[in-house]
Amino acid sequence: MVQLTLPKNSKLTRGKTWNQPDREGDWKEFRIYRWNPDDSENPRIDTYQVDRKQCGPMVLDALIKIKNEIDPTLTFRRSCREGICGSCAMNIDGTNTLACLKGMDDIKGPVKVYPLPHLEVVKDLVPDLTNFYAQHRSIEPWLKTDTATPPKEWKQSRDDRSKLDGLYECILCACCSTSCPSYWWNSDRYLGPAILLQAYRWVIDSRDEATGERLDNLEDPFRLYRCHTIMNCAKACPKGLSPAKAIAELKKLMVERRV
Ligand code: SF4
Ligand code: SF4
Ligand code: FES
Repeated sequence: MVQLTLPKNSKLTRGKTWNQPDREGDWKEFRIYRWNPDDSENPRIDTYQVDRKQCGPMVLDALIKIKNEIDPTLTFRRSCREGICGSCAMNIDGTNTLACLKGMDDIKGPVKVYPLPHLEVVKDLVPDLTNFYAQHRSIEPWLKTDTATPPKEWKQSRDDRSKLDGLYECILCACCSTSCPSYWWNSDRYLGPAILLQAYRWVIDSRDEATGERLDNLEDPFRLYRCHTIMNCAKACPKGLSPAKAIAELKKLMVERRV
């Protein structure tokens, strides 16, 4: 069930029906969350019809078609259209995912599209990721070394490089964090699965020389230990990654350095 952080005192209302099927076609209905901070209206669900014969197969193709041909005010983020930039993350048919990787054919009945849950909404399908990015910055996601920089490159063995598999592919889309109940209730203090996966990515990098400092930074009842292994994060990740596994590895390292 999608949990939205709605503007104060607001109720989700039925919105406008923008168009009706007007010729033979393979029509798909879209019910899309709309909210504009510049008017005093409540959020609403608007309805659009898209002819699949005239549209690409992905939900993002339909959103772009709606914006280009039916309703230019519809607001959403997107860039790469191939699951690389992470910007089209939203809640589709009750699941956090990337609109550019979600096929319309995978959805029975009307396609329900909402912003990522439990974040403030900037407008329509655009969530406010300010806190998410600040949390990412807080784990210092760059190589930290004391050794002098080598003239050519920081070398890494094949084995050490392979430890980054399942981590480097993360595109910071926030699908996992916004499907994590612990993050919903404690996002001011708990870093959440996406940022913890990133933290582990730097802890485990053989070239990094700040491992102890990085682990100290996570040694806190909230920043790391609010993960209760509910596993929603691994189910939600559109890239097939397991933040829960990375979090478990971090907890293991915390224990190991104590003994
Ligand atoms: S495993 Fe941890 S991070 Fe993942 S959804 Fe559950 S509580 Fe959140
Ligand atoms: S782990 Fe997966 S769901 Fe989470 S931010 Fe990275 S790519 Fe997105
Ligand atoms: S548009 Fe880049 S991931 Fe979807």
